[in-house]
Amino acid sequence: MTEHAGASQKPFLYVVVCAAGIAAGVEELIAAAQERGWEVGVIATPVAMGGFFDVAAVEARTGRVVRSAWRSPADPRPFPAPDAVAVAPATFNTVNKWAAGIGDTLAVGTLCEAAGLGVPIAVLPCVGGALAAHPAYQDSLVRLRGMGVRFGDPYSGEPAPGGDRPAFPWTTALDLLERG
Ligand SMILES: Cc1cc2nc3c(=O)[nH]c(=O)nc-3n(C[C@H](O)[C@H](O)[C@H](O)COP(=O)(O)O)c2cc1C
Repeated sequence: MTEHAGASQKPFLYVVVCAAGIAAGVEELIAAAQERGWEVGVIATPVAMGGFFDVAAVEARTGRVVRSAWRSPADPRPFPAPDAVAVAPATFNTVNKWAAGIGDTLAVGTLCEAAGLGVPIAVLPCVGGALAAHPAYQDSLVRLRGMGVRFGDPYSGEPAPGGDRPAFPWTTALDLLERG
């Protein structure tokens, strides 16, 4: 049975973090979500836990453990059920596994389930142009969009011609969730 946050509590946002270099900035999204009234719990892929962001800082900011592995059957659910889910950054790997229904990490399993729960899901991909050209990735985007998943603009992480890397649009995830 899924535990929902009580009606008097803040809505609960899952932030799913994948192993892209830009993940180091995920606290910007968490802070913005908290300012907008969300309670935040972070679920990271196992690869993302290996140095892609500051896990201790995120736990201090959210007041909750960062989840990456499934709980033991006897353990209580660490998070309430989500009212919304933001996937940022989303990798090529996780987007493709999610679209294919391969729930081999807690992160992807959670995403597969969230679509079925009917909660809003916003995705900010960080996928380089060469990988994004792969037909499987393009098929995955079509499939997930068809499920109602909301995507931010493509972001490659590559520097612009002038040399600077464009800022990652963290708060777009919240805008996508809140558009109704
Ligand atoms: C420093 C570094 C940066 C990476 N950045 C990206 C990225 O921006 N986008 C991406 O799709 N993969 C990126 N990768 C590759 C992913 O980490 C790799 O595909 C991994 O299996 C993804 O796992 P996950 O989807 O479970 O998080 C990066 C890898 C490294 C080592």
